[in-house]
Amino acid sequence: MANVFSSIGDWVNERAPGLAPVYRKHMTEYYAPKNFNLWYYFGSLALLVLVNQIVTGIFLTMNYNPSAAGAFDSVQYIMRDVEWGWLIRYMHSTGASLFFVVVFLHMFRGIMYGSYKKPRELVWLLGMLIFLVLMAEAFMGYVLPWGNMSFWGAKVIVSLFGTIPVIGGHLVEWIMGDFLPADATLNRFFALHVIALPIVLLLLVVLHLAALHEVGSNNPDGVDVKHGPKGNRWSASAPVDGIPFHPYYTVKDLAGVGFFLIVAAFIIFFAPTFGGWFLEHDNSIAANNLVTPAEIKPVWYFTPFYAIVRMIPSFAGTAVWGVLAMFGAIAVLFLLPWFDRGKVKSIRYRGTGYKVGLTLFVIAFFGLGSVGAGITAEVIPAWFGNVDLTTWENAFGRTMTLIYFGFFAFLWAYTHFGWEKTKPVPDRVTMHD
Ligand code: HEM
Repeated sequence: MANVFSSIGDWVNERAPGLAPVYRKHMTEYYAPKNFNLWYYFGSLALLVLVNQIVTGIFLTMNYNPSAAGAFDSVQYIMRDVEWGWLIRYMHSTGASLFFVVVFLHMFRGIMYGSYKKPRELVWLLGMLIFLVLMAEAFMGYVLPWGNMSFWGAKVIVSLFGTIPVIGGHLVEWIMGDFLPADATLNRFFALHVIALPIVLLLLVVLHLAALHEVGSNNPDGVDVKHGPKGNRWSASAPVDGIPFHPYYTVKDLAGVGFFLIVAAFIIFFAPTFGGWFLEHDNSIAANNLVTPAEIKPVWYFTPFYAIVRMIPSFAGTAVWGVLAMFGAIAVLFLLPWFDRGKVKSIRYRGTGYKVGLTLFVIAFFGLGSVGAGITAEVIPAWFGNVDLTTWENAFGRTMTLIYFGFFAFLWAYTHFGWEKTKPVPDRVTMHD
């Protein structure tokens, strides 16, 4: 067998001698820092979920009908009559939520270890573009089953563009291709969801990894391995603290994949709707423009951003400020490398202010998520009795919004004015066995 593989290898090599060096550059001779921890699993897991979404998506497309009259029924058909259709659909719907779990953790790792800082700003910017496209992809996918939440979700989210002065109304009509979500909307969302955005996503992921491999990976110590001392057991010119990505990290990542698949399988087989968090109850009712769901709220991964729209009051006769703030919440993440002027990358060696700031930021993110998901609307009356819910919810949500944006302002001042007291960064990576 080994002989067969090596003959095929020789055969390909003779005809395309440029391929083997590319493989070596990105796999066997890509020297990654040897101190990666669990947080470094999420990049490869994001790749895994991306592949899962594409493969299951192809099979769903074979039986899905992108028309307002047929979409809902075709999804029911997939669930009940198509062999293994239920599994394919649940793999796709669970995959969408897990994609965001993985990507949020992947981003948080980047923030914790300062992976967005020089020389990896481009890796971060490409990551943020991936995040934007992923949000658009998930939103359009959510509309496709044409459940009642798909319909009303599409209506509410697209209507946000209506707050833009002068052109807003026309823009909403242009996006939907009608005066309300209808056949034209579904057709274009389908085209974008199954073809256009996946291609863009794949391209961005390739660029993301290419940009990373140009500068080399960061690590939990934030120590520059690539430009540090040279010479390891594989090569005299390789970083002393680097190990070949393949086989060392391919094998390590497989352990993460195993664990992840167990969790994913558990959800898919035993809790596919995840209590209404991954598949909302109101979406098992067909779209009906005469019946508004009791509570229109987006899927959990959009809730922090949706809460920001809700928390910003209208001013000067327009509600555009909320929409601007929502886009601002994503824009500040894009600009993170420029808000943070500090030279020390990893949280391990950063000042207390940074650690407190980041903790508050995470609390604000979850706090906003709970407002967007309607949790505070349930918790406040239950805990505090008969209070004015709107006032209390606004006070909480607005405080969280202030902390969210405040983190970026604080980070800039903290690092710009030299207030941060960092710890000495070691010369070489440290190992915590
Ligand atoms: C489809 C989504 C994504 C995929 C498939 C993906 C894939 C990867 C992979 C395989 C790595 C190398 C392994 C690792 O460091 O974990 C990586 C690194 C990185 N990614 Fe992503 N990524 C995605 C989204 C994002 C997003 C949304 C961001 C942030 C905005 C981001 C920021 C980064 C950064 C900063 C690194 C370098 C980390 C370091 O060296 O410490 N990525 N990504």
